[in-house]
Amino acid sequence: MKETVFINSDQKNNGAEVTEFAGAKLNLTLDVLSKREDGYHDMVMVMQTISLGDRLVLRTSDKPGIRVSTSFRYVPNDERNLGYKAAKEFLQAVGDEQRGIEIHMEKTIPVGAGMAGGSADAAAVLRGMNRLLDTRMRREELEKLAERVGSDVAFCIAGGTSLARGRGELLEDLPPMPECFLVVCKPGFSISTPELFRKIDRMNVRSHPDTEGMIKAIGAGDLREMAIRMYNVFEDVDDRRIRSIAEIKGVLLDHGALGAVMTGTGSAVFGLFHEEENARSCCEVLGKNYSFCRIAVPTGKQAFPE
Ligand code: C5P
Repeated sequence: MKETVFINSDQKNNGAEVTEFAGAKLNLTLDVLSKREDGYHDMVMVMQTISLGDRLVLRTSDKPGIRVSTSFRYVPNDERNLGYKAAKEFLQAVGDEQRGIEIHMEKTIPVGAGMAGGSADAAAVLRGMNRLLDTRMRREELEKLAERVGSDVAFCIAGGTSLARGRGELLEDLPPMPECFLVVCKPGFSISTPELFRKIDRMNVRSHPDTEGMIKAIGAGDLREMAIRMYNVFEDVDDRRIRSIAEIKGVLLDHGALGAVMTGTGSAVFGLFHEEENARSCCEVLGKNYSFCRIAVPTGKQAFPE
């Protein structure tokens, strides 16, 4: 969704408005390799953006400063909001720190789900600011800025299907995944990311995803081969949560999902379906016990000016 509406343009384009869609992220694979000296962990992940996401409206204003509002009461509107941080980084990078910017986030992506909600919003802010202020930064420039905001933000700039390494910022484009339906369900609890990393440091992780096999399956457009390789090392880390994650996976598989896995640091779980009908009836069943259950499809990469 890309539209620029100039309501009342003056020299600084005050009153200009753009809307951006911030697609959520799912992990097809997630592997943690080792803890680094800077405290972060080296990871290898195959990531995918989906049609479920937040809608952002960005506006220029003649009142200096960044103002963020969201439709979720418990999402912060200040520096703790990654979208706010992204807007600040952007204005610093273009040397326009006195600029007035208003950002409204119409949220759908649940918080504490492992779906990169905050990162998707931050990336959408960077893309939106680039259009709003007509700064014409290329994808690579936006990704460099994104790295400073958070680990998953660089991936969310272009989205689509990617292999991510390092903290998550070293990206390699993969071919788009085949058409399918995704049922995403989040149990009532959320998982703290730093806590999960601390737990994995104390564990001896024996099983790792077959990342190379996943990349080959995507290249071959083979949904079944992809589904059997979906794996997330975080899934077995939190003993208290294993049962409800397993329960959702069970329902997904019983309804014909080709594979099911937790995304990111959780707690959302998703299933990969070939048939839309199976996905719909599964979502109906899960929706009786879980307040967040949605159907989505994979989305492709964003287009950028050359
Ligand atoms: O970079 P971001 O703010 O998204 O990371 C949140 C937290 O997750 C970090 O403070 C760190 O504890 C952990 N993390 C990590 N290794 C990564 C990504 C995140 O240890 N690759």
